[in-house]
Amino acid sequence: MMGEFSGKVIVVTGAASGIGKATVRQFLAEGAFVVGTDINVEAGSKLSDEINNPAKFHFLQHDVANEDAWVQVLKDVKSIYGPLDVLVNSAGISFSDPLEDMTLERWRTQQAVNMDGTFLGVKHAIHEMKGRGGAIVNIASIASDVGIFAAVGYCATKGAVKSFTKAAALYCAQYNYNIRVNAIQPGYIETPMVRDVLDVHSHKDVLEKKIRDLHPLGHFGEPDDIAAGILFAASDKAKFMTGASIPIDGGYLAQ
Ligand code: NAI
Repeated sequence: MMGEFSGKVIVVTGAASGIGKATVRQFLAEGAFVVGTDINVEAGSKLSDEINNPAKFHFLQHDVANEDAWVQVLKDVKSIYGPLDVLVNSAGISFSDPLEDMTLERWRTQQAVNMDGTFLGVKHAIHEMKGRGGAIVNIASIASDVGIFAAVGYCATKGAVKSFTKAAALYCAQYNYNIRVNAIQPGYIETPMVRDVLDVHSHKDVLEKKIRDLHPLGHFGEPDDIAAGILFAASDKAKFMTGASIPIDGGYLAQ
């Protein structure tokens, strides 16, 4: 099947759920070879069974906070499908511990996944891509630009992802690597990350309405809304775009 990404080799982290999963499906629909990675092996294997197309999709267990795991995953990707063209760093976690009570360990755990994971992915993808070129898409957040009182540690990590994206893009441009690095800033998207918070809240309906109302378009986004932006940033249509962070947020950040 021909498509916009025919013959391209794509790695998506956090592929077993939410935005990562939707991104995997859109790349497959555009003819790519896709390796989806995730720390959650059960959900990843389930996705692999659903897709059931080993010629085009492979799941690998992967903790993005572990550098050795990155080296192994990218080595495996090369032997399974060939040289890497696109990396999407979608793995992420969000804790809602109150600032006053958050332990240093919990603070660092979010940083390890959201920040270290993104750094390690970009670092090792550069090693794979330089010479041939490629595209990297990081998932930042509206929380890169605005504070959320119930997600202080998360905001810190996503601010870092956005500024790191700019610096990494400039680094690749400086050395003429032909690697573009961009980020997407989702608003609230209907995924397990958000559902898990809502479902345990004592006033779920009130909170849900409050969150909807933060978006001028009046509703949550869908994983496919974000995946569409990720594919654009990864595509040749975006060949003049690097260091950018694109909000896909129902107007949240425009206010
Ligand atoms: P999700 O919770 O549905 O999926 C995240 C995936 O990352 C899960 O499958 C999880 O197992 C995996 N993961 C967690 N720790 C990992 C690790 N150490 N190594 C590898 N994989 C790991 O979340 P969702 O909503 O799909 O989030 C994807 C990205 O989008 C995250 O970076 C998140 O911060 C970001 N985002 C999400 C928003 C939302 O409203 N859902 C809003 C803004 C940003």
